[in-house]
Amino acid sequence: MNAAMRDKNIVLIGFMGVGKTTIGQLLSKKLGRDFIDIDQQIEKDFQMTIPEMFQQKGEAFFRQTEKEYIFQMCEHTMGSIVSLGGGAFQQEDIRKKCLEQCFVIFLDLTWENWKQRMDLLIENRPVLHNRSIEEMKQLFNERKSIYAFHNLKVETDNRSAEETADYIVEMLGLGRS
Ligand code: S3P
Repeated sequence: MNAAMRDKNIVLIGFMGVGKTTIGQLLSKKLGRDFIDIDQQIEKDFQMTIPEMFQQKGEAFFRQTEKEYIFQMCEHTMGSIVSLGGGAFQQEDIRKKCLEQCFVIFLDLTWENWKQRMDLLIENRPVLHNRSIEEMKQLFNERKSIYAFHNLKVETDNRSAEETADYIVEMLGLGRS
């Protein structure tokens, strides 16, 4: 592994519920790197859940906060595994910063597979509230264009979280060294 890659943060992007946090935690263990979940950090610092933040402070406040946290991470952290919220890459500033400074991995899955986990996700995902299935499908497809900005794309459909993490380690040629 070259020195530049060792120092880079590895950032996971992808649609809500694809497994960014679970896969990120596995990668962290396998690679011996720290794990940062931006949404969990925000929840901890503000002592409120993301749905509570959307409700009490509004989505614009959340988006500004997630941008500040991601920029902080880019500036002050090295060599960590970082899971971003699924909407973070909507903001061009975030995309640019992450692509300049980090290694960005897009975790992809098909609509058919996502649909099967949908019921487990909705309650804690305010952007899915009050959307019909057709509207969710539209959002899912729209989001593909923002995730198109990445360094590596990994299909998760036929892989468990463990297999996905192993595949990423293999693809990157990263190991403890
Ligand atoms: C969001 C995704 C969520 C969270 C927030 C908004 C989105 O993160 O940041 O509810 O707009 O896609 P996960 O992708 O971890 O669910």
